[in-house]
Amino acid sequence: MPLCRNIASSPPPLIAPTTPDEAGIARAAKALKAGQLVAFPTETVYGLGGDATSDTAVAAIFKAKGRPRFNPLIVHVADKEAAEALVNFDECARKLAEAFWPGALTLVLPRRNDCPVSLLASAGLHSLALRVPAHGVALDLLAEFARPVAAPSANPSGTISPTTASHVAASLGDAVALILDGGPCAIGLESTVIGLTGDAPLLLRPGGVTAEKVEAVTGPLDRPETGSDAAPSSPGRLLQHYAPGRPLRLDAEDITPGEALLSFGSHAITGAAAECNLSPGGDLTEAAANLFAMLRELDHPAHTAIAVMAVPETGLGLAINDRLRRATNPAATPQEPPP
Ligand code: TXA
Ligand code: MG
Repeated sequence: MPLCRNIASSPPPLIAPTTPDEAGIARAAKALKAGQLVAFPTETVYGLGGDATSDTAVAAIFKAKGRPRFNPLIVHVADKEAAEALVNFDECARKLAEAFWPGALTLVLPRRNDCPVSLLASAGLHSLALRVPAHGVALDLLAEFARPVAAPSANPSGTISPTTASHVAASLGDAVALILDGGPCAIGLESTVIGLTGDAPLLLRPGGVTAEKVEAVTGPLDRPETGSDAAPSSPGRLLQHYAPGRPLRLDAEDITPGEALLSFGSHAITGAAAECNLSPGGDLTEAAANLFAMLRELDHPAHTAIAVMAVPETGLGLAINDRLRRATNPAATPQEPPP
């Protein structure tokens, strides 16, 4: 059974993606060395990469995304040793890195005094967000480039993160030297961000590694109030983060005429103009992998709104519901960055 039906067509992408073979990786590393931007796959979402040690490359990332300068970027490194050259690890950070790297966990740690990463990437904070991605193409690129790569999700600020190369091509194709095509992202949700600059580890953003798994290593995490804006110490919790163009209606149990349906599990709801099912069998891992691509499919002017069925608030459901709640915020329209 197809997961989606009645999907309206979208315009073709702006540039053709690049095969991530040896030649493709070499071209991408060369572009990074020249200060250009490169989109690349990770296991979570596609990243918009630039040389993290270059102020101009990092500034180009903010400009391409239209991202407010107060929202810092995640820097990607090849391994824990490369991370330890940039930030000060404590015991908790060491344990988390050993348990989850490479993987969908980002650690926010105090910058070292000799940290060569552009201060712009930290957006004025004394901390830096770091992650070792678990994706062969990302790791090949980091090995070839041999420097840290700043890479937020490769989408215009305030829109849905990309989980395929063609998502990137459609929205940021004119901002990058090339897009490495690694196929669809296996996890499909951004990394979990843990703040380690205070007294206790803080869940700054739920993501691809479940809070339960992190807590098995750290003990109970501090959690900012759901949906709160804890800026500037946790700017990632800005509410307008993940908006599609159509309004979202959560916990839907029926359909208003003209609405598309984002369903989960088996159900008896009828009358939707189009439908995508996150996981017909009710599996949260499958639902996470499908979430952003399906929101894009249903985010079409042909639909008045997207009705979303309830998803359980456990495991990856925490991150799925976090993204869905942000996508319903009325302030969710893409904002111009401050001058
Ligand atoms: O899965 C991911 O994390 C993807 C892939 C490409 O790695 N990247 C990603 O980056 O989602 P971005 O920039 O879209 O999200 C970074 C998040 C934001 O919520 C940001 O506010 C937070 O991390 N962040 C970055 N540096 C921080 C810092 N120093 N303190 C607190 N939060 C920080
Ligand atoms: Mg993002």
